[in-house]
Amino acid sequence: MNAQIIDGKKIAAEIRSEAKLEATELIADGVQPCLVVVLVGEDPASKAYVGSKVKACEETGIKSIKITHPSDVSEEALMADIERLNADVSVHGILVQLPLPSHIDEDVVTEHIHPNKDVDGFHPVNVGKLSIGIDCLTPCTPTGIPEMIVRSGIDMSGKHAVVIGRSNIVGKPMMSLLVQKGEKANCTVTCCHSGTRDLTYHTKQADILIAAIGVPEFVKADMVKEGATVIDVGINRVEDPSTAKGYRLVGDVDFDEVKGVAGAITPVPGGVGPMTVAMLMKNTNKAARLLTR
Ligand code: GUN
Repeated sequence: MNAQIIDGKKIAAEIRSEAKLEATELIADGVQPCLVVVLVGEDPASKAYVGSKVKACEETGIKSIKITHPSDVSEEALMADIERLNADVSVHGILVQLPLPSHIDEDVVTEHIHPNKDVDGFHPVNVGKLSIGIDCLTPCTPTGIPEMIVRSGIDMSGKHAVVIGRSNIVGKPMMSLLVQKGEKANCTVTCCHSGTRDLTYHTKQADILIAAIGVPEFVKADMVKEGATVIDVGINRVEDPSTAKGYRLVGDVDFDEVKGVAGAITPVPGGVGPMTVAMLMKNTNKAARLLTR
């Protein structure tokens, strides 16, 4: 059996056109949604992500402002930016691209952003609200995953979802989302991580397997149940001298192997990646509504 390929690009385009409509409605109500993206340093992947976020804003009718700092910027200077942006009523979303240089405490930065402008959904107030099922801004990458699954015609309710990875950006919020009541959740949830014994025993139970580990092609065919839905959150650069750039992108799942076992699978690139940016557009509009209603 060959798996259904979940087309993240197509679904993201659908969501972005919904976000464009929302932005048009906000503008008609006198609110120009506005996202500020803060980039520190020269990391090529971070620069590329920020570039794609700014471009998506342009295409969606959301105003975007990019603030860049050198990698030796002080924590105080970054805080001063955030305080100014928190107080600016024309700014609805604030996103500080991670990772930050090691002399800056990411938790301190995250907690400084006003929870209603926290379009990443990383602030402890939003983490807490998500955990107890109160509507709030939720992290873009995990929020996009149920959208992809349900919009591909796959039912989630009552399924066993196994998440590999316990990061604050993906793994933990993914668990919180999946366990809630509702059509795009209502799963039985298991979280596996580096401390898990007999990982394959757990991954083989999954009706929905979500890999967010950061290890290239980690998930092999013998770790996956026949017919499972496999969502690959990984974006890893692996050396490939045969390409012009000298590298290629692969996920955390060995796509060529696993597509022979899975019922549905997301590719890398063109799977989860484009969804993250689409959900950021939705979150920015949601923040604009929250702040101006
Ligand atoms: N770095 C990797 N993923 C993310 C994300 O979703 N938000 C931010 N701010 N930084 C990231």
